[in-house]
Amino acid sequence: MRFNGSTIFVTGGAGFIGSAVVRHLLQDTHARVVNIDKLTYAANLNSLPGAEGNPHYAFEKQCICDGEGLRKLFEKYQPDAVMNLAAESHVDRSIDGPGEFIQTNIVGTFTILQEALRYWRALPIEKRERFRFQHISTDEVFGSLEDDGLFTETTAYAPNSPYSASKASSDHLVRAWRKTYELPTLVTNCSNNYGPYHFPEKLIPHMIIKGLAGETLPVYGDGKNIRDWLFVEDHAKALTLVLERGEVGQTYNVGGRNERTNLQVVETICDLLDGLAPISERPRRQLISFVADRPGHDRRYAIDASKLERELGWSAEENFESGIEKTVRWYIDQKPWWQAILQRGYEAKRVGLKT
Ligand code: NAD
Ligand code: TYD
Repeated sequence: MRFNGSTIFVTGGAGFIGSAVVRHLLQDTHARVVNIDKLTYAANLNSLPGAEGNPHYAFEKQCICDGEGLRKLFEKYQPDAVMNLAAESHVDRSIDGPGEFIQTNIVGTFTILQEALRYWRALPIEKRERFRFQHISTDEVFGSLEDDGLFTETTAYAPNSPYSASKASSDHLVRAWRKTYELPTLVTNCSNNYGPYHFPEKLIPHMIIKGLAGETLPVYGDGKNIRDWLFVEDHAKALTLVLERGEVGQTYNVGGRNERTNLQVVETICDLLDGLAPISERPRRQLISFVADRPGHDRRYAIDASKLERELGWSAEENFESGIEKTVRWYIDQKPWWQAILQRGYEAKRVGLKT
């Protein structure tokens, strides 16, 4: 059985992708999982049904910028791997308040690298050879593509937002800790994720929730920006595969080969909602409204995942059509999950306009 006897730290395990990783590890492997999360606005322990009480699971409320706190956790749990997903992740928020992004994404990654290095150096040889530090990053570090071409692992970094710049910095730190200190690292750069338990500030859940309420659907700019969508559970599976079988020091791009314009995504959601949760004779596409563009808005992201497919045998199980239908159904069926977020004060207001 996979990861039998292994203890894995998942930082950011109460977030969107981190919780999918924790659910996958608990369901499909024998790993013992320690979820290390500061519990920011984006965190939600309700995304981990059944985890509490599972003997293979522990939760530690901990900021990754606090080296002393992390050191105690390394001593307490003696992990075999770290999967570093803790981050500030929303581009629009990074435009209004980049400071938190610099702290968590750069200083936090530096801090956990230092503590992992210190711990790893003191391990007995066999455990030292097995240990891995996996850093989870984004395709946004590569900047914006024109109409053609795909991001590969060798594409030059050209981040354009405070978020992507902070993630690019963290990737460089991980690279340096490998090259200089020989920490056994792995890096993955993934395209846009979607699926259950996604915080409502991001495009897809934002549109589903507003669409369900019959509210205006705000599409930035001309709606022709392209993202390459991957179902979150496919990402979680790719991450554990890379952790298990990836070559130390390598980076792997992860993506679903599902390029869509934002307008196509929103129209698809409208049509699914009309079928599954009709509100009136008026089709929801009429709720779409083109609004002021995001400053520095990247035009197109698209991932070439062939290295991961070729070398580790990964492929996505969901295509966009199957994944988006599952996702829309999930938000219809699981209203209490997202209504609780609105009730605790999240207002779904437009942010990131530089004003
Ligand atoms: P998210 O915002 O949903 O969750 C982030 C989690 O990290 C939250 O639970 C939060 O409480 C926690 N966190 C934030 N700051 C912390 C700190 N200082 N210490 C400890 N915990 C902290 O993010 P996500 O969408 O799940 O993204 C997870 C990772 O995957 C990020 O590193 C992100 O850059 C990367 N990524 C995301 C996407 C995407 O489409 N969402 C795509 C590719 C890569
Ligand atoms: P987002 O989910 O914030 O992810 P990212 O910026 O990391 O790609 O946004 C996805 C795309 O959707 C992006 O091009 C911005 C656009 N967008 C809208 O058009 N309207 C919205 O209300 C939101 C939240 C995003």
